[in-house]
Amino acid sequence: MAFELPQLPYAYDALEPAIDARTMEIHHTKHHNAYTTKLNDAIKGTDLDGKSIEAILAGEMSPAVRNNGGGYYNHCLFWEVLKPGGSAPSGDLAAAIDSDLGGFDQFRADFSNAAATRFGSGWAWLCVKGGKLQVCSTANQDNPLMQAIGDAAGCGGTPILGLDVWEHAYYLNYQNRRPDYIEAFFSIINWDKVAESYAAAK
Ligand SMILES: [Fe+2]
Repeated sequence: MAFELPQLPYAYDALEPAIDARTMEIHHTKHHNAYTTKLNDAIKGTDLDGKSIEAILAGEMSPAVRNNGGGYYNHCLFWEVLKPGGSAPSGDLAAAIDSDLGGFDQFRADFSNAAATRFGSGWAWLCVKGGKLQVCSTANQDNPLMQAIGDAAGCGGTPILGLDVWEHAYYLNYQNRRPDYIEAFFSIINWDKVAESYAAAK
């Protein structure tokens, strides 16, 4: 059973001006599609074939599975936490941001810093670990589910929000201005989806 490239729940131009249509189209049809194809190639005929992506990422992985399985999972999560117009955290999640992370402004500063200071390519994450929220970042297509890679997996929690800071995610529109892209990201976060994932992970 092969992994499939998911359809986006919005049009390529729906996130403008935060993320432009051309970037979204290339990101989805080229980058995410390539991770998906290469993940399928890497697991075909192995005992990973048929496992869930979460189960695959939690175990020992070849470099091809680590890079492409990570790329597959991370982008699936990324598309889901975006929404035209964005929203704001509410309910239990908003309360947890206050109690675990020192409030929304502090969270935003810490998450933005994690994204801005990730050298080269990688991701910033909001995770649930031991029932508490935590912010971390990882390099390349690594993510916190990858227990077998040790410290490279960041905080090791369950990711509920992720920001792609590879140049392919922003370079057409923002060039070297990663901080502007990070700021724009906050205007298109689907906090209802993040809250759903928070409830499930907690
Ligand atoms: Fe990406």
